[in-house]
Amino acid sequence: ESYDMGGHDTYMHKEIAEQAEAVDRVLRGRIDDRFATVHLGGLNLEPGEARRVRRIKILGCGTSYHAGQIGAQLIEELARIPADAEPASEFRYRNPVVDPDTLYVAVSQSGETYDVLAAVQELKRKGARVLGVVNVVGSAIAREADGGTYVHAGPEVCVVSTKCFTNTVVAFALLALHLGRIRDLSVADGKRIIAGLRRLPSQIDEILKTEPEIQLLAQEYADAKSMLFIGRVRGYPVAREASLKLKEVSYIHAEAYPASELKHGPLALIDPGMPTVAIVPDDDLLEKNRAAMEEIKARSGRILAVAHQKQEKADHTIVVPKNEDELDPILMGIPLQLFAYHTALALGRDIDKPRNLAKSVTVE
Ligand code: AGP
Repeated sequence: ESYDMGGHDTYMHKEIAEQAEAVDRVLRGRIDDRFATVHLGGLNLEPGEARRVRRIKILGCGTSYHAGQIGAQLIEELARIPADAEPASEFRYRNPVVDPDTLYVAVSQSGETYDVLAAVQELKRKGARVLGVVNVVGSAIAREADGGTYVHAGPEVCVVSTKCFTNTVVAFALLALHLGRIRDLSVADGKRIIAGLRRLPSQIDEILKTEPEIQLLAQEYADAKSMLFIGRVRGYPVAREASLKLKEVSYIHAEAYPASELKHGPLALIDPGMPTVAIVPDDDLLEKNRAAMEEIKARSGRILAVAHQKQEKADHTIVVPKNEDELDPILMGIPLQLFAYHTALALGRDIDKPRNLAKSVTVE
């Protein structure tokens, strides 16, 4: 890829369109079919060390933090290592307990975000092992980390991160599979995940083909003053990232909530002027998500669902192709990148340079 616009009107649109090839690139040369695993050259983590890791703590900001939340779920699901993600900016100011059996992972597109870099430096000073999941080769965070993996998304110019989010989540899926196969993930499950990873580029292309339909939906919802994004477990970080995307580029207020928490407060917000975007994967929480949509409909809320099949309770459904349950979050965010883009376009926003934002935040 180059900085050439290649016929796209904005970098955001160009970068959304590049995702199938970007995902192909992060997978290339890493899959080992014989042992149903992946090789991540720069990890610098011997199998014996990997088996001794007792916790994984992922640190990042903004979109990278959301990618890290999905990454933590993937690591717990595939490697059965307790994992969570936290904003690096919060972590470094709460005098965290730095545990020798915890593996820390710093995640950043630019590799220059000050809060992430400062967290890495503080962790290193205390003797912790820190890996980087970084896009920009040779950046400060990549240099400071003990090892890690590059995300290979290619240059991302738009302030609003899209393709790097997707590739970062795929990089976490590779890390989770690698750790899983060193620990207790079976060959059969390793093969299942590898087959799922291989399906991603063509499934991304399928999603991108639905752009005209998503554009019409964006025009229909662009009059909203505020939008709610809901999801559960795997769908929740997708909802958080989609809500960040919409607010950054369209300036529409958006808030993400676990669908399970609706009845504990946010239901009070629902009326015809407050649409909800619901992430509804075809997994074991499908019925729970349907029940949440019913609650919203009962209060005259409009619903746009992103799902694997048409949702009767929703006013509109964007149908995305199904992958393995664990990998579904990778695909479900992509139509909502297009939704945010077309909403911003309909509202005449400066898409590549949203007001008040910088591509990388190198100061505190
Ligand atoms: C993404 O759309 C944002 N502009 C922002 O949240 C960004 O992800 C964050 O500042 C972290 O940047 P990094 O990935 O370069 O560290």
